[in-house]
Amino acid sequence: MTTHLRHLTTLENLPRATIEHLLDRAIAMRDACAHGTRKLDLLTGRTVLNLFFEPSTRTRTSFELAARRLGADVVNFNIGVSSTTKGETLYDTLHTLEAMHLDAIVVRHKVDGTPDELVRNAMSGVSIVNAGDGHHAHPTQGLLDALTIRQHRPDFENLTVTICGDIRHSRVARSDVHALTALGVKAIRFCGPAGLLPDADEFPQVQCSEDFDAAIAGADVAIMLRLQKERMAATELPDEAAYFQHYGLDPRRLARADRGCLVMHPGPLNRGIEIADEVADGPQSRVLEQVANGVFVRMAVLGELLAR
Ligand code: NCD
Repeated sequence: MTTHLRHLTTLENLPRATIEHLLDRAIAMRDACAHGTRKLDLLTGRTVLNLFFEPSTRTRTSFELAARRLGADVVNFNIGVSSTTKGETLYDTLHTLEAMHLDAIVVRHKVDGTPDELVRNAMSGVSIVNAGDGHHAHPTQGLLDALTIRQHRPDFENLTVTICGDIRHSRVARSDVHALTALGVKAIRFCGPAGLLPDADEFPQVQCSEDFDAAIAGADVAIMLRLQKERMAATELPDEAAYFQHYGLDPRRLARADRGCLVMHPGPLNRGIEIADEVADGPQSRVLEQVANGVFVRMAVLGELLAR
């Protein structure tokens, strides 16, 4: 038995059973839509709004595909030509959109906690889905990463997962830790330069290291993250060539990991900065599987929140 979800703003504190249920449902969606070649009618007559205040390629497109493959109508809110540029508050935007009747708002925003603010201020029965807020959470990314790992290594209790890069500014790292901790992963390691690691008390269960050679040794999964320059002060910006030398995943470093180590990255990739071409395009890369799973996970989430 899992509790019915109305909104999805974070994976933090979601029970293992709920996460497993969503992953199972993603696989059921994949099979039901025959990998995207068949349209379902689960959400016929429902409307999903994509409200993206930050750039996105994968997440926005995959939410749109997910909604359409379930038969829903999708509206994409174009921030550049909207009234937010005329000074309208987020709440007035929310209430205006709600007055037109929507079933779900998929929101991405640079400010931590915006999706929860929308949940608190919504006046209709609209479901809020977080597509990434500031450093805080990116729950569907956490789910799709967990699904991708589970397809290769369902034995979570044996796994060591190394997450390397700009952890401090990463909502992906936070949601990955929430999902993987709930699923019972044996060990999670964070690696990056001191200034890009989170505060020591944020994740007591995670080992932090500045030494990538040590952090990758024996890892079963390596999740590489982009330097989120848009969230850094100019003084925090590392030199890219030096960064690649210390924290880039190249074939030599990958050879230190477990032989079958899965290489993952949420995208967008900055080749030659956090990952070498040979690794990004190599046989251990699961990057495009992550993208494909993203659509199925978002179908599962929209189906869970909206199906009557
Ligand atoms: C990430 C994001 O926006 O948080 N991308 C994504 O959703 N796949 C990671 C990033 O921007 O580096």
